[in-house]
Amino acid sequence: MDQDVLELYPDSGNKHALQGLYMGQVLEHPRRTQIPFIYSNFISSLDGRIAVPGPDRNSHQVPEAIANPRDWRLFQELAAQADLLITSARYFRQAAEQEAQAELPVGSGPEFDDLREWRIRQGLSPQPDIAVFSASLDIPVESIRLYEDRTLYLITGAMADTERLRHLVDSSHAQAITCGQNGHVDASVLRATLAELGYRRVYAIAGPAVLHTLIQGNALDRLYHTTAHCLLGGTRFDTFVWGAPLEPAFCMPLRAMYFDPHAPQGAGQTLAIYDR
Ligand SMILES: NC(=O)c1ccc[n+]([C@@H]2O[C@H](COP(=O)([O-])OP(=O)(O)OC[C@H]3O[C@@H](n4cnc5c(N)ncnc54)[C@H](OP(=O)(O)O)[C@@H]3O)[C@@H](O)[C@H]2O)c1
Repeated sequence: MDQDVLELYPDSGNKHALQGLYMGQVLEHPRRTQIPFIYSNFISSLDGRIAVPGPDRNSHQVPEAIANPRDWRLFQELAAQADLLITSARYFRQAAEQEAQAELPVGSGPEFDDLREWRIRQGLSPQPDIAVFSASLDIPVESIRLYEDRTLYLITGAMADTERLRHLVDSSHAQAITCGQNGHVDASVLRATLAELGYRRVYAIAGPAVLHTLIQGNALDRLYHTTAHCLLGGTRFDTFVWGAPLEPAFCMPLRAMYFDPHAPQGAGQTLAIYDR
C-alpha cells in the first residue's frame, strides 16, 4: 500500500499514495446534500471480464488473476463513505452457500480499522446500511440475519411474490420497499425513495443487471473502474452491464485516471473515474 500511483489525468505526472486516494471524494460531492449521489465500482480485465465461473462452475466470481489487495483497498474506501450499499439477492444466496467472496464492506479486518474509525469521526453509522435488489425474493433468511446490526431493505417490484416478501420480513429484521410497477425494480423512482429515507451517498456493489437497472433509471452518477492489464479470454463471463441496449448510449466523461504499476503483479492497472 505504500507504493505510489501516478496521476495521468487531469494533472499528469503527480504521484499519490494509494491508501486514501478515494477518501473524501464522495463525502465532499456537492449533490449529496439534496439528493442521493449514486456511485459504483468495478474491476475488469482488459477484455472486459468482471466475473468468470468459480471452482464449482455453477456460480461466477471475480477472476483470481485480476483481484488484488490494492484494488480491494479502494473498494473499501468507497464503501467507507457510503450511508447505503446496494447489493443483489445473488450475493445473499452465495453467502448462504459459503460462496460469497467476502463479507459486505466495510471489512472487519485490521487493515480497514482506519476506515471504520474514519466513519465514526465523520459522525456516520459504524457500517453502511444495505439495500438488496431482488425480483425472485429467493433469499435465504439466515444470510439476511448476518447483518442484524445494519438497517436492511429488500427492494423489489410491486408484482413480486407477496407471500415470500411477508415471510422474509416476518422472519428477519428486513424492511420491504416496492419500487416500480412490475416484478423488477424500476430505478427511475429509486432516487426519490432513498432521498425520503434520508440516504445521500449510495454505493452500488452488485453486478451487471443491477448496474443496467440503475443506468436505465438514470440513477448512476459516477463509475469507478479499475482495468487490470491482462487478457483472460474464455466464453463464460460477466461484463459490467447486462440488459437491453441502452439507447441513447449512457455517456460518462472521464474525470480522473491513475496508473498503478504495482498490481496485479506483472501487469499493473489503471484506475479511472467517470462522472455524469
Ligand atoms: N469485478 C467486479 O468489480 C464485480 C463487481 C460486482 C459484481 N461482480 C461479480 O459479478 C457477478 C454477478 O453479480 P450479481 O449477480 O450480484 O449481479 P447482478 O447481475 O447485478 O445481480 C443479479 C441479481 O440481482 C437482482 N436484480 C438485478 N436487477 C434487478 C432488478 N431490476 N430488480 C430486481 N432484482 C434485480 C436479481 O435477483 P433475483 O434473482 O433474486 O431476482 C438478480 O438475480 C458475480 O460473480 C459478482 O461477483 C464483479
